[in-house]
Amino acid sequence: MQEMLGGTRITYLGHATFRIATAGGEQIIIDPFLSGNPQTPEELKQVDELDTILLTHGHFDHFGDTIPLAKETGATVISNFEIMSYLQGQGVENAQPLQKGGTAQIGGIKVTATNAFHSSSIQTENGSLIYGGEPMGYVLEFESGFRLYHAGDTCLFGDMQLIGELYNPNLAMLPIGDRLVMGPLEAAHATRLLGVNHVVPIHYSPEVLPIFTGTPEDFQKRLNDIAPGATVHVMQPGDDLAS
Ligand code: NI
Ligand code: MN
Repeated sequence: MQEMLGGTRITYLGHATFRIATAGGEQIIIDPFLSGNPQTPEELKQVDELDTILLTHGHFDHFGDTIPLAKETGATVISNFEIMSYLQGQGVENAQPLQKGGTAQIGGIKVTATNAFHSSSIQTENGSLIYGGEPMGYVLEFESGFRLYHAGDTCLFGDMQLIGELYNPNLAMLPIGDRLVMGPLEAAHATRLLGVNHVVPIHYSPEVLPIFTGTPEDFQKRLNDIAPGATVHVMQPGDDLAS
């Protein structure tokens, strides 16, 4: 695992949220759902230094603390065009677009936006919804060549095979909670299509939403039949992947 990570440190903050420290010393957060996230350890809710925020879509359990965090840290926020425009309107200075199919060099890492099938909107304080463009996943390629795929919120789709062929991720973070995203069966087939050897199940804790029914145990059971070569890494909030 250490060798694969090549100096990248990946910390799980619960649900679909990860903090990543690159070998070059950059700090990245994918989907900064922190203050409202019942899974995030208290001591990890506070973020002082941050270079990049990657947003998969606008739903509250992903968009989370994006605005205050971007303003406090000056981090670059990467999202689709619609969310970028919203952020700019809210006074976030360094919001940049990345759309599906596009790749950008963001600091020391290469970020590719991939497809995801879901919805995306931003809820305002009065409860109304603002169109949030299309949901996305991301492939991140680090300095060492380590490649990571975060699927975002999505159903299973056949073109995950293309993501595997084109970007050849070493590790995939896949939602398994069912109901709003893939369940264990679909996520096991996603693992097979991606051809990935290491997988981290995400977006399933009933602590966050009690309607989730998918479990890591069921995911492991499905994988035994569908993608037996893959290793599941069940991370607890606060865990580093290398630990
Ligand atoms: Ni969502
Ligand atoms: Mn979600």
